[in-house]
Amino acid sequence: MAKRLLAVLLAGVMTLSLAACGGAGGAAPAQEAAPAAAAADAAAGAAGGDLSSKKVGVCIYQFSDNFMTLFRTELESYLISLGFAKENITIQDGANDQGTQSNQIDAFIADGVDVLIINPVNSSSAATITDKVVGAGIPLVYINREPDADEEKRWADNDWNVTYVGCDARQSGTMQGEIIGDLGLDALDFNKNGKVDYIMIEGDPENVDAQYRTEFSVKALTDAGFEVNCLTDQVGNWDQAQGQQLVANALSQYGNDIEVVFCNNDAMALGALQAIEAAGRKVGTDIYLVGVDALTEVVEDVIAGSITGTVFNDHVSQSHSAADAAANYLKGTKNEHYIGCDYVKVTTENAQAILDSLK
Ligand code: BGC
Repeated sequence: MAKRLLAVLLAGVMTLSLAACGGAGGAAPAQEAAPAAAAADAAAGAAGGDLSSKKVGVCIYQFSDNFMTLFRTELESYLISLGFAKENITIQDGANDQGTQSNQIDAFIADGVDVLIINPVNSSSAATITDKVVGAGIPLVYINREPDADEEKRWADNDWNVTYVGCDARQSGTMQGEIIGDLGLDALDFNKNGKVDYIMIEGDPENVDAQYRTEFSVKALTDAGFEVNCLTDQVGNWDQAQGQQLVANALSQYGNDIEVVFCNNDAMALGALQAIEAAGRKVGTDIYLVGVDALTEVVEDVIAGSITGTVFNDHVSQSHSAADAAANYLKGTKNEHYIGCDYVKVTTENAQAILDSLK
């Protein structure tokens, strides 16, 4: 499954990297999927029975998060395919509470885990977490919520076995803006005021993914020469129910003036879609809607035309890179301190291929 997915995505990445070239700068250099797969195969071979006795502690910020559920499921099965034993992999739910997660980290350290993979509840707690884990002599792989540049610099300066695996959220925001911009002003400007009137539904504002998607989706539109008008910008904390409520409120307040709904992730886009349908509006006819992640349900909606587009947040590549990095540390091999991956734009043109590859 993974190989087929990577092949499809690699084709997509090659096309889309070109499309993203003129977009907002700063997207991380493309980390190609194929070498990652080759490295994974090599790791699987080289690791052998080596890893079977190694204990892995995984901290997820919140189990109920749809995207992190895909991520942790793939992470566990890939760790096993590398040679780790299922009974030696423990995955904890931080329940969106940093105190709870910090206690889980303490317990993992006391238990003598060999490596930790951490999706922090608050990325601002990374320095404290790093000090604790490095102090205990345990290699550390951060995932999904990127610590800030000062924190990442400490890992390099001290040559610590600490790395971050994730995608550059600026790229995902840019792709959202491009999906909308590609529709053209004639299609977008229902109220004929010459502007793209939008609402923004944000994830957790502490998270750079939310900050960058919010900024770069709109920047892609203004860079393409559109005039934009933000009707409202609300925090939905990555959550479907909150997304639904916020979009329902916005629709009743701004009505037909809302032309585009930007959601920082797909869970909130699914909530937005419920609110849009309940208000008697129709995506593609009198409003547009974009998310990020490429949850299966959303890709199906893109195919059906009920969601305009999304951006594939490659949980397969990210979870594999995180597991490979953990295995490398255990084998005495260093990792780069930042391991990136590319997002992939999902529209009606490639949604079926993406869906097939995810199955
Ligand atoms: C995903 C969101 C998810 C968040 C969790 C983001 O990269 O797009 O769906 O809720 O990570 O940190």
